[in-house]
Amino acid sequence: MYLRELDLRDFRSWPELTLELEPGVTVLSGRNGHGKTNVVEAVHYTATLGSHRVGNDGPLIRAGASNARISATTVNEGRALTTHLLISSSGANQAQINRTRLRSPRELLGVLRTVMFSPEDLRLVVGEPGERRRFLDELSALRTPRHGGVKADYDKVLRQRNALLRGSAYDLRRGYDHSDGASALGTLDAWDSRLATLGAQIIAGRLALLDALSDNIVEAYSSVAPESRPASVRYKSTVDNAVRQLLGDETRDVSVFEAAMLTELGRRRKEEIDRGVTLVGPHRDDLVLMLGDQPAKGYASHGETWSYALSLHLAEYALLASEGSDPVLILDDVFAELDAKRRERLVAVAESAEQVLITAAVGDDLPANLDDSVQARYRVVMEEGVSRLE
Ligand SMILES: Nc1ncnc2c1ncn2[C@@H]1O[C@H](COP(=O)(O)OP(=O)(O)OP(=O)(O)O)[C@@H](O)[C@H]1O
Ligand SMILES: [Mg+2]
Repeated sequence: MYLRELDLRDFRSWPELTLELEPGVTVLSGRNGHGKTNVVEAVHYTATLGSHRVGNDGPLIRAGASNARISATTVNEGRALTTHLLISSSGANQAQINRTRLRSPRELLGVLRTVMFSPEDLRLVVGEPGERRRFLDELSALRTPRHGGVKADYDKVLRQRNALLRGSAYDLRRGYDHSDGASALGTLDAWDSRLATLGAQIIAGRLALLDALSDNIVEAYSSVAPESRPASVRYKSTVDNAVRQLLGDETRDVSVFEAAMLTELGRRRKEEIDRGVTLVGPHRDDLVLMLGDQPAKGYASHGETWSYALSLHLAEYALLASEGSDPVLILDDVFAELDAKRRERLVAVAESAEQVLITAAVGDDLPANLDDSVQARYRVVMEEGVSRLE
């Protein structure tokens, strides 16, 4: 697939921007701070409904404006769909496909698929577990849009459950014998069962993704860093022990995860009430990235860390490309960070991709083999308020 047109209004630094794009490689070039990353961030947001730089939408809206708009026309196997997203500072975001208003922006998931490499990717390896959970969930939602809906519902239930644990700690400690205690605990029971139903689906979804992805990661890493130790990945869950007790084995069965979540929620209820926060569930899980028999986080060298981050996205790209048309490949400010071998690997993928968007500051070198290899190459030079194709 490829992006044919992008139209921004009040998105980040852009009051207004229209870009017409074509398949092949497009280089967005301009001075530092000119808004190149802002452009690819908008593209990636259309695909994932998330930003690679910030966790909330506020910074995406141009300072002083109340809404940002992103319109994008994606051509997938000859069929064009235009999506519109309204990011609002005051109300819920809204989305449209062609002329049809959607019930939720999540219905956009799957229309445009992107894989982005950026300097922020180092955080995938060395950052908090939340970074890796986001990687799994965003990719799951691209492959199985329903996962995005389940995740959003889970987050809502989690917030409400946490509010109850925090706000009603006194009543929750009074026990079922007291009427206020029984009422608060009854509410908590109801949240437990919702949390377990949704949480189990998230865990199963992430494991299904890893089943499809982990061989790709191992292979990508060994090709990017053949001299390094072998990579392997493992999903680590807050319900692992309960699953083992129930089955003594590994499983992919949603109902087992649900039972395991209920078991753990029961076992740790007192601790949760004392701490006022939900301790059990996929929001506390992690994707453990191993190098040999050590975790990469805390042990990997700087080069190994880059190789790992790169491999996760190479694996993502290979998986998405094998299951449908090529995702749009976005390379944001990455070439300066990579050594020759890693550049080569990335260029090999870029050569095969239907469309590649690259940002580069004026004067930045692009890999020489990229120059040679691209069939159609456009350079969008961005200047104050305008952009033109060369
Ligand atoms: N919400 C916003 N409103 C207005 N301006 C913003 C907003 N968010 C970011 N900016 C501005 O956008 C600019 C950064 O744009 P961006 O990150 O796209 O630059 P870039 O062209 O990728 O630069 P570099 O070459 O350094 O990577 C900054 O000057 C910042 O002040
Ligand atoms: Mg940038």
